[in-house]
Amino acid sequence: MPRFAHVTGWGMAVPHKVLTNFDLAKIVETNNEWIVDRTGIHERRIAEDGETTASLATDAALKALDMANLDPSKVDLVIVSTSSPEHIFPATACLVQDRIGARKAGAFDLSAACTGFIYALNLAAQVIRTGNVDNVLVIGAETLSRLVNWKDRSTCILFGDGAGAFVLQATNVPGGVLSAVMRSDGSGGDLLSLPAGGSRFPTSAATIAQGQHYIHMNGREVFRFATRVMAQATQEAVIKANLQMEDVHLIIPHQANQRIIEAAVRQLDFPMEQVVVNIGSYGNTSTASIPIAACEAIQKGQLKSGDRVVFVGFGAGLTWGAAVVQWSGPILARRRRLPRSYRAWARMLSFLNRVTRFIEGIIWGRWLR
Ligand code: ACO
Repeated sequence: MPRFAHVTGWGMAVPHKVLTNFDLAKIVETNNEWIVDRTGIHERRIAEDGETTASLATDAALKALDMANLDPSKVDLVIVSTSSPEHIFPATACLVQDRIGARKAGAFDLSAACTGFIYALNLAAQVIRTGNVDNVLVIGAETLSRLVNWKDRSTCILFGDGAGAFVLQATNVPGGVLSAVMRSDGSGGDLLSLPAGGSRFPTSAATIAQGQHYIHMNGREVFRFATRVMAQATQEAVIKANLQMEDVHLIIPHQANQRIIEAAVRQLDFPMEQVVVNIGSYGNTSTASIPIAACEAIQKGQLKSGDRVVFVGFGAGLTWGAAVVQWSGPILARRRRLPRSYRAWARMLSFLNRVTRFIEGIIWGRWLR
């Protein structure tokens, strides 16, 4: 029996703190008109103390599980796509797995910058199709505000924080993720990078003094690259799904710059009314931008069950990609526990795991001695 990977749940989480262009104009030499005109951004959300990539990812994931009527114990795999992980290791996905109580799940982070959510969606669909797993949580989460140089007006005006999550589930009903393309061109890696803090340039007084721990970007070059690949990837994914552009109801592009989106849509000769743009409210939330835009599109009735939607993005790497999805919706299922209790259950489970490890440590320690 062929298996299909359907999106059956979705959720988003953004910090409460809003930073407007007018607020930014008090920090760096910029103004509202320039930012709106060049990017389409009016405001963005910024994580405050206590809000982190894992906390936003967890909030989005719990909403998606609630929507899908899926108990966390049934999740087989948690993939967190992020360029602002909590640590190099452990993976942010493992922190989320623990906080939602997904006790039988594997978990890993995926690093493909803003394209990461498309990569993660494709990988999740592939493991479901092979029959390996039934339920996958795919999360895009970022707190890039912690990695930008707030003195650099060419980057700090662009980014915002947030998370979005999809639940993917196996069924025998045709539909769900229909196709995907994933591309990379590492020769452009220097155009958008965070040079220090990895093994090449470990954090040191010198890397900090040189500002190498901040995002560095050649905006014009990234702009040129993005306008070239967005339309191309969309067309490739649509052809791969054996469809034509006329069969597509909606495009949900990565929200990096309104002008990039408009240029790509012009190349595709696609109606702008069928393109989701919410960059004005959130800025560029990197890999979280596509699932956040999808959640808002569903809320506004723009994306409905049965619709064919293209997700398309680009980012550091350089990476780019697109996926065509026939939108599904929750599978009717009997709920075993109240979603409100998921977090408390997860905390209890986490505590029990620590206690078990402690006791096992004593027993094994004695036995091995
Ligand atoms: N406020 C006012 N003026 C500014 C600002 C600002 N915030 N930033 C730059 N300027 C000035 C520049 O100094 C320059 O002045 P000059 O002509 O006197 O030298 C002028 O505005 C034009 O600068 P450009 O860089 O040419 O502006 P551009 O129209 O290209 O817009 C932008 C810059 C918005 C960064 C654009 O290039 C862009 O969006 N690039 C793509 C970036 C992107 O999408 N990055 C994310 C990738 S996704 C990921 O992986 C995270």
